[in-house]
Amino acid sequence: MKKIAILTSGGDAPGMNACIRACVRSALNSGLEVYGVDRGYKGLVENKIFPMTSHSVCDIIQRGGTILKSARCLEFKNTETRKIASENLKNLGIEGLVVMGGDGSITGAKMLSDEYGINVVGIPCTIDNDLAYTDFTLGFDTAVNTVLWAINALRDTMTSHDRVSIIKVMGRHCGDIALYAGICGGAEYILVPEVPYDIQKIANEIKKNKERGKTASIIILAEGAGNEQEIKTLVSVISGADVKFSTLGHIQRGGTPTMFDRMIAAKFGVKAIDLLLDGKTNRVVGCRGKEIFDLDITEALSQKKKFDTELYKMSTILS
Ligand code: ADP
Ligand code: F6P
Repeated sequence: MKKIAILTSGGDAPGMNACIRACVRSALNSGLEVYGVDRGYKGLVENKIFPMTSHSVCDIIQRGGTILKSARCLEFKNTETRKIASENLKNLGIEGLVVMGGDGSITGAKMLSDEYGINVVGIPCTIDNDLAYTDFTLGFDTAVNTVLWAINALRDTMTSHDRVSIIKVMGRHCGDIALYAGICGGAEYILVPEVPYDIQKIANEIKKNKERGKTASIIILAEGAGNEQEIKTLVSVISGADVKFSTLGHIQRGGTPTMFDRMIAAKFGVKAIDLLLDGKTNRVVGCRGKEIFDLDITEALSQKKKFDTELYKMSTILS
């Protein structure tokens, strides 16, 4: 293999830049020519593919976002569009493609490989941590730490005013951000799509707590776990508490990556390049504890994400 390309796709994730840097520097070190693709699959289809040097990735290890930019490209779900993308790669003599993104982006990579024989390696990058085959996706740790910062700040003011705070966090259909941030931030209640809850019961508990002198609480609400306005109204009517709602939104997607994310970014990037060099393609990389492993892309995508119910149970004991 002589030439490879790298793209970032789907929702950006802190640590993507550190991972681009790791891929570029590791590939150059092994004598490969490296190309970047502008704005994910959109750029692949529009032939926006450009050479990268070691200098292209200077001063980015600490930056959130992605210097390659990201985009959603719905047309990529059509085989004809994927054919154009594969021809663009072949015309430039690019033999390997590193795709950084979530479930959707890695599915796109699998289709490129299945249908048009492109050698791909997927790197799991999404703040949602919703890929089943890996313990952690790149960006999740930073996003959780951003949520923790917000919980700390909100707790200060909620406690001063005897208020209840509902904090809505991201995660699409996955409650991991809420679970991890809720446990580490000492939230009283964690509402996730994977576990049914009774909001009336929670509101009654808050009422009783108030009567006993515990006047402030934090409720972490995962995206997809319920309607924030309905929850706010029910909790305030039943408990009589002054309830405030905050949504953290895209703040969770940006910011400087944590040590953990920078470390897995480096390890994922180097592993992806090693796989391409060894001809072990159509794989994804992942982590299990400290171990970095690779797996067949189809097998990885077929795994169903399991919610950590033990961790959830622990959170109910500690709150
Ligand atoms: P993420 O990668 O973060 O899960 P998306 O689900 O939005 O984000 O997917 C990102 C991009 O990946 C899409 O805009 C599309 O270009 C591509 N993609 C998603 N699903 C598929 C699919 N089933 N087939 C081909 N490409 C896909
Ligand atoms: O990156 C994943 C995610 O943050 C989800 O949690 C959220 O639903 C979605 O992306 C929103 O992204 P966008 O506004 O870019 O469509």
